[in-house]
Amino acid sequence: MEETLLNRRGLLGRNLSVAYRRPVKIVRGAMQYLYDEAGEQYLDAYNNVAHVGHCHPRVVSAGQQQMARLNTNTRYLNDLIVDYAARLTSFLPDPLNVCFFVNSGSEANELAIRLARAHTRSRDLIVLDHAYHGNTTTLIDISPYKHDGPGGAGPPSWVHKVPQPDLYRGLYKATDEHAGEKYAQSVYDVIAELGEPGLCGFIAESLPSVGGQIVLPHDYLRLVYEAVHQAGGLNIADEVQTGYGRIGTHFWGFKSYDVIPDIVVLGKPIGNGHPIGAVVTTTEIADSFNNGMEFFSTFGGNNVSCAIGKEVLDTVIDEGLQLHADQIGEHLLAGLKDMMKRHEIIGDVRGSGLFLGVELVKSRETLEPATTEADEVINLMRSQNILLGTDGPFHNVLKIRPPMPFNAQDADRLLTALDGILR
Ligand SMILES: Cc1ncc(COP(=O)(O)O)c(C=O)c1O
Repeated sequence: MEETLLNRRGLLGRNLSVAYRRPVKIVRGAMQYLYDEAGEQYLDAYNNVAHVGHCHPRVVSAGQQQMARLNTNTRYLNDLIVDYAARLTSFLPDPLNVCFFVNSGSEANELAIRLARAHTRSRDLIVLDHAYHGNTTTLIDISPYKHDGPGGAGPPSWVHKVPQPDLYRGLYKATDEHAGEKYAQSVYDVIAELGEPGLCGFIAESLPSVGGQIVLPHDYLRLVYEAVHQAGGLNIADEVQTGYGRIGTHFWGFKSYDVIPDIVVLGKPIGNGHPIGAVVTTTEIADSFNNGMEFFSTFGGNNVSCAIGKEVLDTVIDEGLQLHADQIGEHLLAGLKDMMKRHEIIGDVRGSGLFLGVELVKSRETLEPATTEADEVINLMRSQNILLGTDGPFHNVLKIRPPMPFNAQDADRLLTALDGILR
């Protein structure tokens, strides 16, 4: 462990972070469990990338078989990419019918912005405060979580930040039945102040994750999407964390608010750890992008990625993982809400399916964030071999987003450990 840490420090960029005070050195994964060098098992309650489970045999086998057969790029005809696109779009509402495949969530968001710019011929983008959309130069520009944080240089003039519609800690609370409209007002205000050539669009996660596992007010996205359309802009849903049944009630986060975005951005879970990103949009927007400049990604949409991508999607469906997430999520939520009665430090419990947040506060009146305590909790959970993380603007929200096979027994193990630690 010490040697690995030392080598890492010498050989890798210093701003790669390491989870936990006593880091874990993982050498193997199987479904919702990870194993260290000594063969000790860890319950993974954090890694949403391994969506259908770490090293799921169906996904591993699909990748192995295709890797042994062919792996080349999209300039040659092959059925895998069209089969995958057909399967993926069958889960999306009309008119979201056209796919682009890339290699990461960042690449997908980059491409989404290019599509929106090509279609609207504008640049101005509205983003939520605390949002994170990826690691490229443009995405740091649209990610307040990064450009307003350490080392950041703030947003460029074409990025307009609006308050995160956080019903617990934000400007308007859950008790305010007009909270959605009031948060949407800040989007209307930005639009009203824009000059020519007008709005490019609005981008948001359907349930902001880095922002603290936030569930938006139910009418917020509908109001914002309507206003953005009226201003000539496009709505981009970053579903990198919330798609593929994770929220239990719906297959996509945006569906839970009854809206249809113009562009959907996918990443993390869709390759179950294999690097795949995707953008799905309308024929009209894709046609605006088809302006004579070829779009090509060397690895995006390669045969192995498509074989894996389709297998992940089929596995989500065949194993009924959305319903499973709904049921286990309800069980976890009930346990966490019950725990809230015993532990003053829990200010809020929120989320949907296997996308949950537990916000720790020093006082339920002032909402002073219990940041140090949250850090202590995840480190103590780690010492009991349960992996969790923290997030939110104050890093005081415990993030629960396990691989989807996470079961009721795992949930009880997590609840018991957390209860003991908080006590
Ligand atoms: C909401 C969201 N969008 C985009 C990204 C970027 O994805 P990637 O790290 O695959 O480039 C992330 C990564 O954490 C994310 O959480």
